[in-house]
Amino acid sequence: MRVIVAKNYDEMSNLAAKEMADYINNKPNAVLGLATGGTPIGMYKDLIRMNELGEVDFSKVTTVNLDEYVGLSGEHDQSYRYFMNNNLFNHINIDKSKTFVPNGLANDIEKECREYDERISKLGGIDIQLLGIGNNGHIGFNEPADSLSLGTHLTDLKEGTIKANARFFDSIDEVPKKAITMGLGGIMKAKKILLIASGESKADIINKLVNGKITTQVPASMLQMHRDVVVIIDKDAAKDLK
Ligand code: PGA
Repeated sequence: MRVIVAKNYDEMSNLAAKEMADYINNKPNAVLGLATGGTPIGMYKDLIRMNELGEVDFSKVTTVNLDEYVGLSGEHDQSYRYFMNNNLFNHINIDKSKTFVPNGLANDIEKECREYDERISKLGGIDIQLLGIGNNGHIGFNEPADSLSLGTHLTDLKEGTIKANARFFDSIDEVPKKAITMGLGGIMKAKKILLIASGESKADIINKLVNGKITTQVPASMLQMHRDVVVIIDKDAAKDLK
């Protein structure tokens, strides 16, 4: 695990965008695993700017997102499909038919999950997976638990996650209670992993990610077993690192 400490959020975003752009420049038809949340917004802004300047080309790229809320359509402004269109896809030269987000309105969720994993396999797997991290160590919506799932699956969101995400909704009651998420197996199969985090509220979990025991109670700790992980964080998130 390589840990890079940036001086602030903007530098973290910039370094992460460069890492992703370098990957795409080396492999123009790369399969990118993408993430939502507050953390990657700055990085996506930088990628948009770099695309405008001709520094990175998304025309041959395919993307697969980590997760989606169950019950929200892609037009709902809090769905992760909407987030991706709004914060990245609408502003870069990507072929939208090659951007995949789980369908939160699928009638048969189990089938949707199975087909999502089959699609990723058919694409040849994920080349570079971007991750944020929850305060409780979740990655995607893989919440702390006694056991973790391998493949894409339906999951219940933890109370703390619902609270953390309520800031994006009009009220906490509107936050969906279930989501479809890629599993730990799917994430670990990515050839390279790029995890980003910012702010003091992430300091404790970042220390556990880097130095803690590997436990299903901190899903992100599994990343210690991956051979190519880059963690880019700002100074505040690095505060508790031993
Ligand atoms: P955040 O979410 O980027 O909004 O902090 C991270 C996560 O929950 O994975």
